[in-house]
Amino acid sequence: MDPVRNPYAPGAGRRPSALVGRDDVIDDWNISLQRAERGKTDQPMILYGLRGVGKTVLLSRLRRDAEDRDWLTVQVEAGSGRGLRDMVGEGLYGPLTDLARPSAGARLLRALKTALSFKASYDTSGTWNFGIDLSEASGGAADSGVLLTDLGKVVRDVSLAAGDDGVGLALLIDEAQDLTAEEITTLAAIMQSAATDDLPVLFALAGLPSLPQTLAEAKSYSERFRYSVIEKLDESAAHRAIEEPAGDEGVEWEAEALEHVIAASGRYPYFIQQFGQETWNAADGTSIELRDARVGVASGQGQLDNGFFRARWDRTTTAEKQYLRAMCPEGDGGVGSGEVANRLQRAIGSLGPARANLIHKGLIYAPDHGIVAFTVPGMAGFIARQLD
Ligand SMILES: Nc1ncnc2c1ncn2[C@@H]1O[C@H](COP(=O)(O)OP(=O)(O)OP(=O)(O)O)[C@@H](O)[C@H]1O
Ligand SMILES: [Mg+2]
Repeated sequence: MDPVRNPYAPGAGRRPSALVGRDDVIDDWNISLQRAERGKTDQPMILYGLRGVGKTVLLSRLRRDAEDRDWLTVQVEAGSGRGLRDMVGEGLYGPLTDLARPSAGARLLRALKTALSFKASYDTSGTWNFGIDLSEASGGAADSGVLLTDLGKVVRDVSLAAGDDGVGLALLIDEAQDLTAEEITTLAAIMQSAATDDLPVLFALAGLPSLPQTLAEAKSYSERFRYSVIEKLDESAAHRAIEEPAGDEGVEWEAEALEHVIAASGRYPYFIQQFGQETWNAADGTSIELRDARVGVASGQGQLDNGFFRARWDRTTTAEKQYLRAMCPEGDGGVGSGEVANRLQRAIGSLGPARANLIHKGLIYAPDHGIVAFTVPGMAGFIARQLD
């Protein structure tokens, strides 16, 4: 098929042509948006799951839904080397600039002044200019250096200003397991007081399967959050993920071709997109046939090995590679860290650093005390194919 019209989108955070199987989360979020517009705040949404299941694209979808309702939105990604303070600060600048106007009411002026002081709290060299005289406005003082005070103030003032316009502030944080302990604790406290005070602000956090545990350890209140595990697609959603994008281009999949790709993908969205893309490119008839799917899956597997998997494998040291290899017999299931030590004929304590580094790099997580598992579906199979 014409590669120019290829509708599949493998790649981290790439928006799929058909975002399927996530209606529950999307519906919940849209209800929360409408409730917040009526002065009723809901608890934060926590989305967690393995690599490549679609957390980022779902989070982006939630952001767009909020934007479509004219909400102020800030979407950031933790773990990129920047702190929560400046990520949120910088994320606020664009939306606030859009909002700033000479006719601004007292609450908006206050929010702008508070945002200016927040900016000064992490960036002493740069300043913002909203083109409005704020000397008479109340607000400011979000530069005490205490994250809880400063972030709390800016969230409060900005959301109340948005509330004046009948909307709210949506704060979305990806890779939230990479926030520091202080950031998580602070965030939990701010999210809780926002709910208590019925502020027009909604939070959504996405991260690895360890995220609920991380939140639970950081602070109480976390039991009140709304948790959704984001998993591989069910059968019907997997079918739609493949058929709908092609259908929009007037192309049909034959049943055996569809089944072949679904089986090979394990219904993981990333793999569906990759195999879908390669199969499309392999096909040259009027519809997509089994032989195209066979070629597509084989070449898609090669692409995944060279990209999705290899990018992660290449980031590990020799000692970490040994650790990962020792986890492989269980496949994608978890294994006791004691058993890993046995296999490597090492004392469990001496493997602590390798284990901690692999968790820090987001390659493995601890589904339970003393258990480790891959965060990347299919990683064990990939490792078995590697010689180094
Ligand atoms: N619901 C869905 N329907 C169809 N395709 C999807 C869906 N969700 C995600 N995808 C596709 O899966 C791939 C991975 O999505 P995404 O980057 O959002 O995953 P992730 O969970 O954030 O992964 P990571 O943990 O590595 O950040 C993308 O190519 C995306 O287009
Ligand atoms: Mg992601």
